[in-house]
Amino acid sequence: MALHLVDHPLVAHYLTRLRDRETEPDGFREASGKIITLLLYEATRDLRTNPAPIKTPLESFEGRTVSDRVVAVPILRAGLGLLPPVLDLLPQVTVGYIGLERDERTAIASRYYVKLPPDIQGKVAIILDPMLATGGTACKAVEILEEYRPASVRLVCVVAAPEGISALQAAHPSVDVFTAARDRELNAQKYILPGLGDYGDRLFGT
Ligand code: URA
Repeated sequence: MALHLVDHPLVAHYLTRLRDRETEPDGFREASGKIITLLLYEATRDLRTNPAPIKTPLESFEGRTVSDRVVAVPILRAGLGLLPPVLDLLPQVTVGYIGLERDERTAIASRYYVKLPPDIQGKVAIILDPMLATGGTACKAVEILEEYRPASVRLVCVVAAPEGISALQAAHPSVDVFTAARDRELNAQKYILPGLGDYGDRLFGT
């Protein structure tokens, strides 16, 4: 697994707004949308393109259009908040949903909802899950997706903990992770430190 730490002043700016406990849900949603747009820019850098001959108002021009097909897979619930910029930016993207719940005793994630488009085979799959904490959810989501034989799987998350990065690296070495920050550690409740709290709660005001 390759870890892509997106180091950019705008990413640092919006991540600070997300981390700030004073940021209200509307500001949190705005900063979330902007940081995901910036992370997507890196996460889609290797998409392939085809020649697209067009005519500008002045002359012929050999343009390019994205030829890779992408399926975005938000992990319920917080991943839903990452979807709007993906729908705005990616041509012809299809969307699948995975709902996972974690057994608090064993920390094992199991699926309670999976709704995926039928044609994932050969597509670039982008998992959207804002917090890579223990890695249990991310590993399970990759496992589910790989049953459908996508061309590749990548994860876009806002913050990653060292524990989650190691777990994903060990279980799924081919998955690339695009994130704004590699934080210090998990606390006893498996929250990321310094982190930003519960992403879903901050996003939805719950
Ligand atoms: N999920 C969150 O929303 N926040 C964390 O810190 C860890 C997991």
